[in-house]
Amino acid sequence: MTKAIPVAAAAGVLVSAAVLLPQPSESKPEQTKRVSVTQMFNDNCNACHGEDGAGGGAGANTFISEARFSQDYDRRFFDSIKEGLPQVGMAAFGETMTDKQIWGMVVHIRELQKKGLRAKFGSPTPVDGVYKSEKHDFKVEDVVTEGLSTPWSLDWLADGRMLVTNRPGGIMLFDGGSLVGELEGLPPVVQQGQGGQMEVAVHESGWIYISVADPAGEGAKGAMTKLYRGKLDGLKWTSQETIYEADQEYYSGAGVHFGCKIIFDDEGHVFFGVGERGTNARVQDTSTPYGKTMRLNLDGSIPDDNPIPGNPMWAYGHRNPQGMTVDLDGNIWNTEHGPRGGDEVNLITKGANYGWPIYSLSINYNDSPDYLPWPEDEDSIAQPAFRWLPSVGSSGMDTITGSAFPEWNGDLIAGGLSGKNVDRFTMEDGEMVEHEELLHGLGRVRAIETHKDGTIYVALNGPDKIIRLVPAD
Ligand code: HEC
Repeated sequence: MTKAIPVAAAAGVLVSAAVLLPQPSESKPEQTKRVSVTQMFNDNCNACHGEDGAGGGAGANTFISEARFSQDYDRRFFDSIKEGLPQVGMAAFGETMTDKQIWGMVVHIRELQKKGLRAKFGSPTPVDGVYKSEKHDFKVEDVVTEGLSTPWSLDWLADGRMLVTNRPGGIMLFDGGSLVGELEGLPPVVQQGQGGQMEVAVHESGWIYISVADPAGEGAKGAMTKLYRGKLDGLKWTSQETIYEADQEYYSGAGVHFGCKIIFDDEGHVFFGVGERGTNARVQDTSTPYGKTMRLNLDGSIPDDNPIPGNPMWAYGHRNPQGMTVDLDGNIWNTEHGPRGGDEVNLITKGANYGWPIYSLSINYNDSPDYLPWPEDEDSIAQPAFRWLPSVGSSGMDTITGSAFPEWNGDLIAGGLSGKNVDRFTMEDGEMVEHEELLHGLGRVRAIETHKDGTIYVALNGPDKIIRLVPAD
């Protein structure tokens, strides 16, 4: 019954450059009828497990426990529901439900668990201004509290001043918490749904990389993710170069899923994620820019050792990757949004396929089951090292460095929009070995960046502000 979990990320690691890009071993499985997952649970499981998952009938224990909320139980729960537990009188639902419906039951249980656990344990709460966590006590300080409008990203210039993007447009320059001014002469950008002025990332060479929702040219419609780099002369944006733009045919009126976080490795590459832009069906096509992790040389040319010659793609099968970081070992990680459940933390490896929209740990927004997490050939799809179930709207991510929080050094830190959470992860060999929620409920978490002194900056939306985590003493 305690079947081993398919090892996270290992699938991705196995995909080497020499192998042809993996395609899913089966086409999209049969469409399941749109039945509400909640209804199915209430009809089949309530009598023993309770509508809120607290158990109580026929020997069913409560699901509301930290231990049973662990992702290690995903596969075990699935198998138990499918095969039944004859020794305790629970039927094998594999006889009456499809695999997708059974996975929907697991997602539903996860939603009940989160609700129950939050009601029982609440959110991390400061006592006399101090948050206690497993390895460090910390405080939260306000850095910028006024003038921001849906802040999307932040980074620091070599002189220590901070750049902050606002999604509707514009990049602000701050000295400490004080506004110096807004950059002038930036390239055009449209605010289209989730797109607008997005990332700012300062490379050690002094080049400043930015990503925007770029308005389509004549004869095309909508917008698409585009990257530039430039320099600053006072507040003036100068020396602009285009680093990445998609063909006009890929511009779209969809307001969703632009990506687009930017990171650099130590070997002269820039990485960024592009979301599926409302075109799920084209994500698995490696020739489109949709749902890809891209890798370019710093000047925007395509590296010779990308998986497909002449193609900026490094990895594929993403829905909306909005967080990305390089850890201390040079591994690349991203966060990516599932629809309802199954937000992912992925180890990104060359040429790997992350499965969207064929495999996912989600259900549909409308509570109907539509996905299975695991392909039959487990090596064909890279599994996440961590998944949020239920969804948090996973967003900003960084690697913790610097001296402020030595016990967290090298850990990943990531947050969520709807989840309003900041979580810390310890990864080992591509697998998650420790996970802890540090903050919850302060606002929608968009960007997380570790300052070189090790304090951790977080851009919030609603309220629009920038806070930072500092050691308690
Ligand atoms: C007749 C009572 C009964 C019904 C109906 C029932 N269960 Fe259970 N279930 C149990 C008992 C008893 C256990 C074992 C004790 C426990 O783990 O809480 C159990 C265990 C489980 C477990 C934990 C298994 C594990 O490996 O740890 C899951 C998940 C589960 N049930 C899901 C469901 C779902 C989903 C449904 C409806 C589709 C359902 N059950 C219907 C009685 C029931």
